[in-house]
Amino acid sequence: MMWTSHPVNQITGTLRAPGDKSCSHRALILGGLATGISEISGLLEGEDVLNTGRVMAALGATVDRLGEGAWRVEGVGKQGLKSPKVDLDFGNSGTGSRLMMGVVAGYPIEARFVGDESLSGRPMGRVLDPLAEMGARFESSDGKTMPLTLAGKADLKAIDYQPPHASAQVKSCLLLAGLNADGETVVRESRITRDHSERMLRGFGAEVKSQRDGAANTVSIRGGQSLIAQDTVVPGDPSSAAFLAAAAMISPRGGVLVEGLMSNETRDGFYRAAALMGAHVGAEDVGDAAGERLIDMSFESADLKGAEIPVELVPSMIDEFPILAVLAAFATGTTVVKGASELRVKETDRISAVVNMLRVNGVDVEETEDGFIIQGCGGAVPGGGMVETHHDHRIAMSALVMGTASQKPVSIDDARMIATSYPDFRAHMMELGADIRGT
Ligand code: S3P
Repeated sequence: MMWTSHPVNQITGTLRAPGDKSCSHRALILGGLATGISEISGLLEGEDVLNTGRVMAALGATVDRLGEGAWRVEGVGKQGLKSPKVDLDFGNSGTGSRLMMGVVAGYPIEARFVGDESLSGRPMGRVLDPLAEMGARFESSDGKTMPLTLAGKADLKAIDYQPPHASAQVKSCLLLAGLNADGETVVRESRITRDHSERMLRGFGAEVKSQRDGAANTVSIRGGQSLIAQDTVVPGDPSSAAFLAAAAMISPRGGVLVEGLMSNETRDGFYRAAALMGAHVGAEDVGDAAGERLIDMSFESADLKGAEIPVELVPSMIDEFPILAVLAAFATGTTVVKGASELRVKETDRISAVVNMLRVNGVDVEETEDGFIIQGCGGAVPGGGMVETHHDHRIAMSALVMGTASQKPVSIDDARMIATSYPDFRAHMMELGADIRGT
């Protein structure tokens, strides 16, 4: 399914952000484990999240859709999870699969984890190794990739662990396993990553301790705690909104207001980086949801300047580098990204995919081991390229945003993956004035 984004003169309007993907996965998982009925509103109905819902149902929870974004989950509570009769299929989702490995590890059940081509190539050793230390067993290919079978245990042992990578998925996997382990599980992060699991576990009644020390963060959870059903309003996704924000910033006439976004310092690196590049970002407090602050954010056309992106921002904008690269292409001067080697193991190798996306559209870019260096075109991005998306939704959306303001249209080879995280992306972009056509 090929799509082409044609240049337009303005990107304007007001939109409500889609539900946050990370919080949507967690609301279904915690609701499915809790005692009682949890109602969720504003759930992101992207493929990744729907797969997590199906998996929780295969493990014994009752998961029903009540209406648009409205879901009801009856958790398994004390009864615990049952061994699934089918393979657990996570599609494209690293988050769903890694978090659920932690969940399965804490029960005396066995499950086979499968996914699409992109997910089957992603490293799972980062969660399987610590889970094995806690007592879970797994069988996988040599590279510790999916498909794989995981056997959990009723008497898992707590672990004190320092993950070698900054990863919220690893932290969350271990906290979920720790919930059913003997003793106190401790995760020592050298750089804080998104903290939605900690916040939401607390919302479901668990005691989770966190202690910050500069950029570092230590989180711990005592095993044997039960979760109590909780209604959740999912806040808007700052990662999805970054595409709308960037479209406004690079447009000759841009003015976009996105309502109901989650404001969380472990997720806002893109907005801080854009501000460093000269963007004007407005934010107004409008309340809270799911233990998170909510804001409305406004974005407008900007004379962007290249910048060296501070490495401290990397974990809080780990999903936003493809769209940041688009801002950098339109900026004047050089943008340098480093310390981001985790991008190599995302839905695809995002360093090489970003470099190709820019090169085929006439932008001068150099690939480095842990990032890239982009020479901005000062507003005049040539475009005209066909971007290979490699099953990566964020590369697909970034390329289409680039096409809204480049000199010639930008095409992508496959738009299907966009539905994993932002099914309404094209409709939202068209509402703002974009011209994205399918072929
Ligand atoms: C996520 C964590 C991040 C992020 C992903 C969502 C989460 O992955 O890239 O899109 O919800 O925990 P890593 O933990 O691999 O950095």
